[in-house]
Amino acid sequence: MKKVVLAYSGGLDTSVAVAWLREQFGVDVVTLTVDVGGGSLRTGVEGRAISAGASRAYVVDARKTFVRDFCWPNLQANARYQGVYPLATALARPLIAQLLVEVAQREGADAVAHGCTGKGNDQVRFDVAVHALDPSLEVVAPMRVGMGLSRDQSIDYAAARGIELPITKSSPYSIDVNIWGRSCETGVLEDPWAAPPADAYAWTVAPSDAPPAVDLLLEFEGGVPVSLDGERLDPVALVERVNELAGAHGVGRIDHVEDRLVGIKSREIYESPAATVLLAAHAALESLTLTKDTLRFNRRVADELAQLTYDGLWFSALHRDLRGYVASAQRVVSGEVRVRLDHGSAVVTGRRSPLSLYEKNLATYDTGDSFDHASAVGFIEIFGLPLRTEAARHGAVGARHGAAWTWTDPLLERLEASVTDPVAAGTPS
Ligand code: ARG
Repeated sequence: MKKVVLAYSGGLDTSVAVAWLREQFGVDVVTLTVDVGGGSLRTGVEGRAISAGASRAYVVDARKTFVRDFCWPNLQANARYQGVYPLATALARPLIAQLLVEVAQREGADAVAHGCTGKGNDQVRFDVAVHALDPSLEVVAPMRVGMGLSRDQSIDYAAARGIELPITKSSPYSIDVNIWGRSCETGVLEDPWAAPPADAYAWTVAPSDAPPAVDLLLEFEGGVPVSLDGERLDPVALVERVNELAGAHGVGRIDHVEDRLVGIKSREIYESPAATVLLAAHAALESLTLTKDTLRFNRRVADELAQLTYDGLWFSALHRDLRGYVASAQRVVSGEVRVRLDHGSAVVTGRRSPLSLYEKNLATYDTGDSFDHASAVGFIEIFGLPLRTEAARHGAVGARHGAAWTWTDPLLERLEASVTDPVAAGTPS
């Protein structure tokens, strides 16, 4: 190993890692900082990287690509890990891994490095993504191979080498942010019974402190949002705006015990205001524009994509092909959705689309009904045929053939029932 490209956040741990990699392995260290929004880019990272001994510091603004090519496909698929987590951290890892590989190739480096521990998902995501893109690169994780220093040791280590310390104040939690969400873990949160302290949250107000409810109007084209309250916005601006609005109304707090890839259950606090609102709005528009079979199939695709994304398999053929299916199925998911932000909840209160499959004339119970009620009889006759056949053969006939069970337990004799006849009611017959 001669030259290594390190994924560098500019925090204390990765700053120490720059010096540690140089000293342990005698390598040249190039840092790569990727701005994925949400405050992930710290001020002065380049200077800090150089002060820690980096021979070169790359800073890449990947916000637009992150939203367009990672968050949007996730939104279009309605993918949430274990039905809950909108996958913010997991979505950014393949993007950062790809940039690590590209910088390594440009720099002629033979290794890449990251600051993940040996207990989390992120190490797996980086390692497998890097090796999918360039199997010749070595991956080093200083935390897995002996760098583990306490916070005080890290500060001493940095001070002794003249490494600039990050100005951000220390947090009792391990935090990862990008424009799609904020992930917070460790500390008092490790007790799944402990209510999250107020300081675990940074993007959302407590729902009880939220101002009066407001309505948002979101317009979607092909399954992605393009405008907010009538104003067309680029993807980054739109997500930022929805994050601010929804966060100010206490929307997007998620408290979840999830199953990590490495077999550990872990308590996580997420804040994903924009993802929460957009996922709700998107699903509402799908229910209007897609058939029931597509919707049912999409739920399976959502689960599958969520698992693959969580597990770091973004660059697998299965992930790519499922994204391809989703993109195709989303062509008709266009229209408008009204969402009410109300003290922590984001509730859809209206949806409309030129491509809507909702037929008022068919659905109505008022005048103008065009549904053929008489046809329902023949439909039900044939629809119910398999059930009538089964009940007849396996119920009555099955019992005569010595089946030990009864088809149904009688209900009426086990329930309290009152019967009123005309005499008892005093009505002359
Ligand atoms: N458990 C989440 C995931 O695996 C979030 C991880 C957040 N990382 C962190 N360093 N706090 O996607």
